[in-house]
Amino acid sequence: MAGAVDSPRPLFRRFVVVAQALAFSAPLALLRKTPRLQLSGFALALLGVGLLVGPAAAQTPDATRRGGYIFDLAGCAGCHTDVKNKGPLAAGGRELKTPFGAFYGPNITPDPQYGLGRWKEADFVRAMRHGIRPDGNRYFPVFPYTSFAKMSDEDLHDLWGYLRSLPPVAKPSRRHDIGFPFRLRFLQIGWQWLNFSTGAFKVDPAKSPEWNRGAYVVQALGHCGECHTPRNIAGATRPSLYLAGTRDGPEGSKVPNITPDPETGIGKWSPGDLADLFKSGMTPDGDFVGATMAEVVRNSTSKMTDADLKAMIAYLRAVPPFRNDIRAVAK
Ligand code: HEC
Ligand code: HEC
Repeated sequence: MAGAVDSPRPLFRRFVVVAQALAFSAPLALLRKTPRLQLSGFALALLGVGLLVGPAAAQTPDATRRGGYIFDLAGCAGCHTDVKNKGPLAAGGRELKTPFGAFYGPNITPDPQYGLGRWKEADFVRAMRHGIRPDGNRYFPVFPYTSFAKMSDEDLHDLWGYLRSLPPVAKPSRRHDIGFPFRLRFLQIGWQWLNFSTGAFKVDPAKSPEWNRGAYVVQALGHCGECHTPRNIAGATRPSLYLAGTRDGPEGSKVPNITPDPETGIGKWSPGDLADLFKSGMTPDGDFVGATMAEVVRNSTSKMTDADLKAMIAYLRAVPPFRNDIRAVAK
């Protein structure tokens, strides 16, 4: 099935999308007694519990340090650390609320029983690049492998080395608390087939190295589109509305339009305004971003090198502008 991901069969796909959307939404609507058939993005992020496998490869300290930087930029700590209850780094337990129920980031420390201690590097690469568990089952896209799939081989390798360097924590991952039928992991095979195609980021030779680095930071590491791009009924991000914002963001928050549209996006922000936001969370009118973006700033963007920050800002300012007013309209 996974091998079929790349083959475009638009009509058939459309049919399956509709069928799948109905299969997902109809029972959802009933369960939640809501008249609206709505599968927002994080929604389709159903999940289960990871039981793991495989030993480590030697890593130089330098590669481990680089891996730590990837870990920060990709926000791994955010979902895999139970900060609220002062849980240890990457030991799991953080609750991620979705319309389907609560997911919990699993323990990704090298503990052999409860973490990734028995995984091989190949297991890790398969999880990140293909969304496939060591047992062959699929991950729920609440784990943004859909973005991480674009990471380079080198970054995945360094990231793995960094994860191996963390202190192992013997703490079981918490089972996701999601309703039937969403907890059926095999449904994710169909979801992947329809909505996901794997493959590392491809450099666009027509664009500058800075633009390409910015695109990589935004798409493969920062996974900004997982929150800032609206999703279709099946919970997949809509490429034509890339970064155009949504009212159905994580934890029910509105996520602003960050395309360079001057009225509804960030078109009037200077590069300095953007840099301030990414370093400190402060917006041009002196406010501070809240919700999940405060976490993104704390865990990720405030730790970027100046060169990466500059590349990211240059790239964001060159994204196709899209008019979409998220703030004005009430939910
Ligand atoms: C938005 C939240 C989120 C972010 C960010 C995130 N993860 Fe996860 N991750 C999850 C969830 C939820 C699962 C469980 C998915 C499932 O059960 O299908 C998961 C699963 C995993 C797994 C599989 C674990 C297992 O036991 O099978 C690995 C490995 C992993 N994440 C590594 C990472 C790394 C490395 C990063 C940073 C590059 C990262 N994650 C960022 C939410 C997240
Ligand atoms: C986990 C979800 C999430 C991720 C990932 C995320 N954002 Fe955000 N972002 C938000 C939310 C929610 C807000 C609104 C915060 C508020 O209103 O206080 C926001 C606000 C912003 C703003 C301010 C826009 C405005 O008009 O006020 C910018 C710029 C921004 N994000 C850029 C980014 C970039 C670049 C990335 C990737 C590096 C990113 N975001 C990743 C959720 C996210």
